[in-house]
Amino acid sequence: MKTDRHVLVAAADAELTRAVGGALQGLRNVSLELARPDGGGGLWAKAARAAAVIVEVDVRANGAGTLVRRLAGSTRAGRLVIAAREADAERVRLLFRAGAADVLTGPFTAEAVRASLSEILRGELEPAPEGSVISVIKGHGGAGATSLALNLAALLAKGDAKRQRAPLSTAVLDLDLQFGDSDLALDLSPRSSILDVLQASDRVDPRFLEGVMVEHASGLKLLSPPQTIVPLDALQADFAVEIVDHAARAFQRTLVDLPGAWCDWTMPVLSRSDLIVLVAAPTVAGAVGARRVIEGLAAAGVQTPVFLVLNRLQGLLETLDKPGRIARSLAAPVGAALRFDPAAVKASDRGQLLVEAFPNSPFAKDLRACAAKLEGRLETLGAPDVFADLAA
Ligand SMILES: Nc1ncnc2c1ncn2[C@@H]1O[C@H](COP(=O)(O)OP(=O)(O)OP(=O)(O)O)[C@@H](O)[C@H]1O
Ligand SMILES: [Mg+2]
Repeated sequence: MKTDRHVLVAAADAELTRAVGGALQGLRNVSLELARPDGGGGLWAKAARAAAVIVEVDVRANGAGTLVRRLAGSTRAGRLVIAAREADAERVRLLFRAGAADVLTGPFTAEAVRASLSEILRGELEPAPEGSVISVIKGHGGAGATSLALNLAALLAKGDAKRQRAPLSTAVLDLDLQFGDSDLALDLSPRSSILDVLQASDRVDPRFLEGVMVEHASGLKLLSPPQTIVPLDALQADFAVEIVDHAARAFQRTLVDLPGAWCDWTMPVLSRSDLIVLVAAPTVAGAVGARRVIEGLAAAGVQTPVFLVLNRLQGLLETLDKPGRIARSLAAPVGAALRFDPAAVKASDRGQLLVEAFPNSPFAKDLRACAAKLEGRLETLGAPDVFADLAA
């Protein structure tokens, strides 16, 4: 449904429309609506309802002053911006006198439009809230990173009534360009994948990203990995971060599944994340792998906090004893511990999510506790509870 918080644009060419689009990017509750500057396309009716109106006028044309006066009469007081590419000081003065609240001269840029809109809309432009980004990495191959990312995503998407957690819109970005298998784990046959994003790099925005994602029955949305092996350097660092930014704008939680091998864009994505979940086995090899990762992150200057998850704890003794010992040896707290559970393998062989197929299994219980601890950790990091109104 359209609200009255739309900015109406009637532009002679694409430059002004693009500038307004850029100015509104990242703002919530403000949409862009188009009309024709000659009065067509419902200009008058739309102008009356709009939060602000930006109309491009050729100041040299006959009747420009009359048009502006008429527009000012149809627009809410103080909400009319006239874009007059070639207006000199004298003409700008005339436009103000005809009723313009502000006048933009060429070239039309997003910065100029935003400055003008923030002036006339004052406190009405609210930045869109961003969701939290959780990157999941592993200390060694097969640690359980993908299983954890997918099950956590499903739990967050569903919410947890017992713990009073509202359902959250949740995305999983499978950036494992060579061996990503999240689509298989969810038994999905997506028609699009990250390859579509790579091929349309200059057109990607949050809406495009959502369009190429596939929705799983749990509610999570997946950006699928390629069906073929793609070189890791097919993705550039700034574009990888841009993809994550778009996801953070579209979803309350974004989980990123990263390749085991580190490449040019690994550290930028990890630095952009709010939290790094590091998955490792509670073994000597697991602890050594985790130490290597923690040291590698520090050496690369990544400041993002790490939430260490030990996966595949076996037996009561190991469950009670290992997390503390590993935490001491790594000088890093263990965020959560997950038990070994044959149901995990059974679920992935069936293309089912463990938390859905075996909700009462030990692994599912541990995963729910892990999700709650993770959310708690995000809260302590100051992740804004921007969607609290949905929970009410
Ligand atoms: N706690 C567990 N108990 C038993 N099996 C598990 C457990 N966690 C994960 N697994 C199983 O281990 C296998 C590997 O897990 P997964 O694919 O999630 O690991 P990964 O770290 O993503 O591996 P890769 O290095 O290939 O990306 C899967 O078959 C999964 O079901
Ligand atoms: Mg994996």
